[in-house]
Amino acid sequence: MIRTALVAGALLLGASAVIAQQNVVKENQDTMKANGKNLGAMVAMVKGEKPYDQATVTAGLAQLEETAKKLPTMFPDSIKGLKPDGGKYEMSPKIWEDKAGFNARIEEFAKVVAEAKSKTTNLDTLKVSAPAMGKACGNCHETFRIKLE
Ligand code: HEC
Repeated sequence: MIRTALVAGALLLGASAVIAQQNVVKENQDTMKANGKNLGAMVAMVKGEKPYDQATVTAGLAQLEETAKKLPTMFPDSIKGLKPDGGKYEMSPKIWEDKAGFNARIEEFAKVVAEAKSKTTNLDTLKVSAPAMGKACGNCHETFRIKLE
């Protein structure tokens, strides 16, 4: 009896750890979606689809800076190999196989966001900073994100 209870308890603990890890995967997707939304709003201004709006730019840059701060701890070993529950993309195993490369992409992204934050004050400066940030997103995705068919 005691043994069965212990085993059941261990299984429950194991299950809740898996749920916690799956939540991390979901939170990461939400963070990435927010990145896409905020950079997308800036790109729309660059393309002239929306008027330049400093409040939107400032709020978007603050969220991207948050992401840059979170990225170094967003992909712990415990979520390696987990599949997203829906969505078009998943994590590449290279995140863990090439940590140095992954961290280099994070640093590059953080630098570009910090620069954008200090320099973006109008449409002309946004025309420089938005594509630079988009390039830093893409440089990471190219190697560390897998598109699901
Ligand atoms: C250092 C690496 C890295 C950087 C920088 C990065 N991403 Fe990602 N992104 C990933 C990985 C890994 C995934 C797949 C796993 C996930 O979604 O958590 C992803 C997924 C995404 C997704 C798909 C989310 C979904 O499932 O719907 C979007 C959208 C996205 N990123 C946007 C961005 C944008 C925009 C930027 C730049 C402002 C950015 N990312 C910067 C690594 C990065």
